Amino acid sequence: MKKVVLAYSGGLDTSVAIRWLRDKGYEVIAYMADVGQEKTTTAAIHRAKVAGAAKVVVRDLKKKFAVDYLWPALKAGAVYEGRYTLATALSRPLIAAEQVAVAHAEHATAVAHGCTGKGNDQVRFEVTIQALDGKLEILAPVREWEFKSREEEILYAERNGIPIDVTQKSPYSIDKNIWGVSVEAGALEDPDVEPGADSFQWTRGAEKKNLKEKLITLDFVRGVPVGLNGRKMDALKLIAELNAVGSLYGIGRVDMVENRLVGIKSRETYEAPAATLLLQAHRDLESLVLDRELFHFKETLALKYAELVYYGLWFTPLKKALDAFIGSTQEKVTGAVRLKLRKYSAQVVGRRSPHSLYRESLATYSKKDKFDQRLAKGFIDLWALPYKK
Ligand code: ARG
Repeated sequence: MKKVVLAYSGGLDTSVAIRWLRDKGYEVIAYMADVGQEKTTTAAIHRAKVAGAAKVVVRDLKKKFAVDYLWPALKAGAVYEGRYTLATALSRPLIAAEQVAVAHAEHATAVAHGCTGKGNDQVRFEVTIQALDGKLEILAPVREWEFKSREEEILYAERNGIPIDVTQKSPYSIDKNIWGVSVEAGALEDPDVEPGADSFQWTRGAEKKNLKEKLITLDFVRGVPVGLNGRKMDALKLIAELNAVGSLYGIGRVDMVENRLVGIKSRETYEAPAATLLLQAHRDLESLVLDRELFHFKETLALKYAELVYYGLWFTPLKKALDAFIGSTQEKVTGAVRLKLRKYSAQVVGRRSPHSLYRESLATYSKKDKFDQRLAKGFIDLWALPYKK
């Protein structure tokens, strides 16, 4: 029997996909990647087995996700179309890469995912799989099967005795990991309708809260966040704490219409408290320690990097080369940034670094001034020379 490793989420689509693949003659290994989606795995594992999986493999990828995916994206300043901090997009190459590893370990000849034919995620999965092992057969049941609606799928599940998770009956399609929550579908499909209070997963209820301003300090070493409020902290703890406090303040909410790779515009809302705070603080620290030309050039790369992540091009030579360049820009990005949190937003109110390029003696308008103002005239005359009439 041919063996297939299915990227299994525990949801309706992939539960049904297990049975569907088995009916097509495959032995199915359900592979669950933990990137912090807060799903009860015991129930999901049980569901996979009842649906017909020969084996369930669970991999905790959270640490790897933070260190090898989130930190590079943070260093790059990657934000798609100015707002989306890429939680879903960043997780897919990791999940797919580990899926290939599981396929090799299990001597499977095929892999499968539960992505639809309309989205970006199918692209991210399949590009990654092909970049890492072009020989694996790729199956996309949701793109191929006969079910035309969720109702038909549920009927099939019921008829085949596959237990459905009723707690998951949200009117939205939700994807969650430690870098943020992505929410689409349901009432959000009308881009002119305000997101309902129930669409928010982490920041729910922020509107009703009466919150005092709160100061937090973030420490960075070479572009990597290493501490919160003076306490050293590992990646996962730091992200968790920032998500907790940021969620309370309703920070990192985004409501946008974005351009998918497959050409469709889609309306999505995001909640990314930790990502928002970290990106904001990191960029601010860069403004202190990077010279003007490097800072400006790096901003152009941030756009490219975000696009590349969004387009599923993580395992490509361009991504590798960009990481090398961006890595070298981070040598001096060490220091502390103080942020003031208010409802829905944070503001940087202070920053310091041993590598600060800020010189009070040059910037000041007081007696401490060391800047020779006579130099300005010659500089401006040469700058204007090409344009002088
Ligand atoms: N639009 C986002 C992306 O392509 C998120 C996709 C998944 N969203 C969801 N709500 N299931 O990266």
